[in-house]
Amino acid sequence: MAVTGIKEVARRAGVSLGTVSNVLNRPDSVAPATRRRVLDAIDELGYVRNDSARHLRAGSSRTVAIVVLDVSNPFFTDVVQGAEAVVEAAGGMLVVCNSGQDPAREGRHLATLEEQRVRGLLITPVENGRHERLERLVDRGIPVVLVDRGSGQLNRCSVAVDDVLGGRLAATHLAELGHRHIAFVGGPASIAQVADRHAGAAAALTEHGGGIELEVVETKALSVTAGRQAAEDICALPQARRPTAIFCANDLLALGVLQGLTIGGLRVPEDISLVGYDDIDFAAAAAVPLTSVGQPREQLGRTAAQLLLEEADTDAAHGHRHVVFQPQLVVRQSTAAPRRRTR
Ligand code: RIB
Repeated sequence: MAVTGIKEVARRAGVSLGTVSNVLNRPDSVAPATRRRVLDAIDELGYVRNDSARHLRAGSSRTVAIVVLDVSNPFFTDVVQGAEAVVEAAGGMLVVCNSGQDPAREGRHLATLEEQRVRGLLITPVENGRHERLERLVDRGIPVVLVDRGSGQLNRCSVAVDDVLGGRLAATHLAELGHRHIAFVGGPASIAQVADRHAGAAAALTEHGGGIELEVVETKALSVTAGRQAAEDICALPQARRPTAIFCANDLLALGVLQGLTIGGLRVPEDISLVGYDDIDFAAAAAVPLTSVGQPREQLGRTAAQLLLEEADTDAAHGHRHVVFQPQLVVRQSTAAPRRRTR
């Protein structure tokens, strides 16, 4: 079915293209009878305005896009809600894209967003390092703000949380409880947040002294399923080789670990302590309320959107800013002193 354009509407109403454009953009400038004829033609033909084309001509769009790593992770839901509140208060609309931690899928989204000439882009990139597709968007004058990540050589605005400190907080809490064999469950290690949390934990345990072992159990994803699988592997270990505590790179993993340990007959925290990361709402609501490293999720989203709109709406030179928030340890029932000595 042919798409009805503005020419068909003008022909049906017996007016010029300019009159149709005035009805769409400045309706008060058109005589009521003429405006009625044009609106009737639009209804009869089922004409739909092409906002992107209009914005292309106007050189602006009200649409802001955010590309998240994993739309099923409540962490990103909260980040999106923070960003959405700011964008909508400014009269815009937020479009959410999910990369699913897949660089190719992320690239397809960015190609579409470039064509649409969105007002700006918020993104948590899948990979670290140079990002040519983002550089192209920047070159085309589309503001980009990195979310939950530093901007590195892209040199754009960014908002993040100090994940190295977050890893330190989790590990220090377990060391101070007396744990001497701790497992770090997380992955892929290529995800910057995972690497930073592990690095912070390792540094804290080294500084704590006492020869505390931090055993890495790398996972293929930051998901409940991956956490459950890691727990099954830990349950299969002889007791003497089993860690007395587990620090997970995010809460979804920790919820999966909790489920897997429970299925495997191990109690939290009696047999094994458990710490998550993000402090999503499900952490407190878990069967054993999770100790977790809290991130200011909605504030991340709000701040990222504010930085983006400042850049998008400011003709004057915009100074890029890198905002880093501090995580906070939230202690709940899933951690306690170890009941047994490890080897
Ligand atoms: O996307 C993976 C993780 O990184 C999320 O759970 C959140 O912690 C983010 O920082």
